[in-house]
Amino acid sequence: MTGRNEGLTLDPIWLAPEAEFADGVEARGGLLPPGLAGRFPGELAVALRPERPTVIANFVSSIDGVVAMAAEEPSTGGAEISGSSESDRFMMALLRGLADVVIVGAGTVRVGRRHEWTPRNVVPPLAAVFAAWRSELGLAPQPTTIVVSASGKVDPNHAGLSTSDVPVIVVTTAAGASRLATMSLPANMRVVAAGDGPNVASGALLAVVRDTGARLALCEGGPHLFGELLRARLVDELFLTVAPQVMGRDSVARRLGLVEGTSFGGGLGRWADLTSVRHAGGDLFLRYRFVP
Ligand SMILES: NC(=O)c1ccc[n+]([C@@H]2O[C@H](COP(=O)([O-])OP(=O)(O)OC[C@H]3O[C@@H](n4cnc5c(N)ncnc54)[C@H](OP(=O)(O)O)[C@@H]3O)[C@@H](O)[C@H]2O)c1
Repeated sequence: MTGRNEGLTLDPIWLAPEAEFADGVEARGGLLPPGLAGRFPGELAVALRPERPTVIANFVSSIDGVVAMAAEEPSTGGAEISGSSESDRFMMALLRGLADVVIVGAGTVRVGRRHEWTPRNVVPPLAAVFAAWRSELGLAPQPTTIVVSASGKVDPNHAGLSTSDVPVIVVTTAAGASRLATMSLPANMRVVAAGDGPNVASGALLAVVRDTGARLALCEGGPHLFGELLRARLVDELFLTVAPQVMGRDSVARRLGLVEGTSFGGGLGRWADLTSVRHAGGDLFLRYRFVP
């Protein structure tokens, strides 16, 4: 896969001095191994919460705030927003490399027909380097993919969910679990019914994540799932790539943190501290830590 910004370094523009961790705070990451450090100078470390898994999120947005086009569009994925930016894929791989689990909504899975939520999928030439880094960090060879679905309309034969070395958990409702119970699932996939409601409550989702033993979860959207987790105040940090294009599709575009049918009046009220700014060519990489 080729695209914009092939091989560029994600150069620091500004790193908040207060982003250093206080004594006693457990963190995942640090200086990157030699095979990755050349493209990401400085540290990449995420504080781990003691009482629950830390949740970070990663999105790419256009300058005008679009993260997804409408389902009717011929192409609706993140690659269209980023212009297939290789530096954005590299950032995505770094975060997947650090995470125990990658959480995605079923809408994103249905669009990414062949996508696998692993570091190797987004930067294949560095697959061995990422595998060695995860081993050094004491992590499982691949992050577990957690798919969230109310309906249970998840294709068990999806190319990215049926690779034997990538564990997959579909977290769904009782109705969704009944639907999936009629299908033949690959050996790497299991289904967890989280409650009897019409949706999976964010707290129930987090309990499934915690039960895997995960300390760090990466949410890769889409906008609906991210909105739910944000509203439940479960997102600790956001890594946001701003791609230098204007989509110009106002009527059909979707924005970050969308929660349909909800009016927040004055807004969600979730403020965040900016903790780092990097760039690779015209791509801007922002890191925000949400204020508790
Ligand atoms: N720009 C980016 O960085 C980025 C990142 C990710 C995705 N995207 C794009 O976003 C678009 C998809 O947007 P979306 O908002 O529809 O994605 P989504 O959040 O991935 O999918 C929504 C679906 O996820 C399931 N879901 C979400 N929250 C749930 C909950 N609390 N309980 C149960 N099920 C839940 C439901 O699945 P069921 O319908 O099965 O019930 C729901 O219909 C795609 O075009 C994708 O490419 C962009």
